[in-house]
Amino acid sequence: MTTENDIKRMMRRGCEFLGTEYAILGGAMSWISERNLVSAISNAGGFGVIACGAMEPHMLDEEIAETKKRTDKPFGVNLITMHPQLDELIEVCANHEISHMVLAGGLPPGWAIPKIKEFGAKLICFAPALALAKKLHRSEVDALVIEGMEAGGHIGPVSTSVLAQEILPELRDELPIFIAGGIGRGHAIAAWLEVGAVGVQLGTRFVCATECIAHENFKKAFMRAPARDAIVSTQIDDRLPVIPVRALKNKGTQEFAAKQIEVAKLLDAGEIEMGEAQLQIEHFWAGALRRAVIDGDVENGSLMAGQSVGMVKSEEPVADIIAALMNEAVKALEKNRG
Ligand SMILES: Cc1cc2nc3c(=O)[nH]c(=O)nc-3n(C[C@H](O)[C@H](O)[C@H](O)COP(=O)(O)O)c2cc1C
Repeated sequence: MTTENDIKRMMRRGCEFLGTEYAILGGAMSWISERNLVSAISNAGGFGVIACGAMEPHMLDEEIAETKKRTDKPFGVNLITMHPQLDELIEVCANHEISHMVLAGGLPPGWAIPKIKEFGAKLICFAPALALAKKLHRSEVDALVIEGMEAGGHIGPVSTSVLAQEILPELRDELPIFIAGGIGRGHAIAAWLEVGAVGVQLGTRFVCATECIAHENFKKAFMRAPARDAIVSTQIDDRLPVIPVRALKNKGTQEFAAKQIEVAKLLDAGEIEMGEAQLQIEHFWAGALRRAVIDGDVENGSLMAGQSVGMVKSEEPVADIIAALMNEAVKALEKNRG
């Protein structure tokens, strides 16, 4: 008979890597993955990750210190590689002897890897393709997250299942691999463990946790939304690049399309330069996630959410979410094995 121990055995490598009871990472979410949610996930046996986002070094310093006051369990810090103060942010993490660092938003610059390893932290990176996964492995990254386009926030073009099929068989024996994107229930966790993942990363599923500081309007929008409402921002004009973001459709997403058309027309008419046009597109969403998460403006702000949003139906404590996921994973394994 399958027991929780079977799932834990399948998660062992991930748990040993993270230093946790469960190999479940709370994916870093800007404005959301702060001291409260991060410590709650770590205290419940998962692995919380602070989202540095656009924070300045002194803000990150305070966030880490406050998180440490709330948990004595391991947690990580996620930095965006294009942050202009990446170097100083890594120093803040070194001063706090952070055990696990996640670098997101592109391949890490060459200097950042030894700088992180120098203070003894384990480095986790995202692998958006097999060739890049191999490159990251050669660069001595310690673990990979494979995140498919079902996920919330900034995404690549390929689905979780395709990336996992490409990368897991090639690299699962070389380094621990976690799967992210579209995981809403424990059944999916069991499935990924069975094909060689050591654990998973979830973001969307934790947004409606009781401990999460997201505005109640933001949480209500999540609880109401079916999977199909979590859409990808589309680029309308070849000249105006748009980084794809998956978010719930609202007035803001509609206006973004209109804004692109308006800017393209100004370009055609020679009324603005290309640089100015691209800047206007880039700036459209600046501060938009904060507007929705913190101020509760769910009409105009950005409601970043993954397709698993359709499985988020109520506000519950993190410990209950993790218990439910583990329970579902056990049941799914039991069923699969007959
Ligand atoms: C609201 C929101 C904000 C996010 N912000 C970030 C971020 O700042 N940095 C990052 O690396 N990933 C970010 N993500 C991605 C999550 O860390 C996680 O990988 C993703 O949510 C997993 O897929 P899921 O949403 O299907 O569970 C964000 C996701 C959401 C939903």
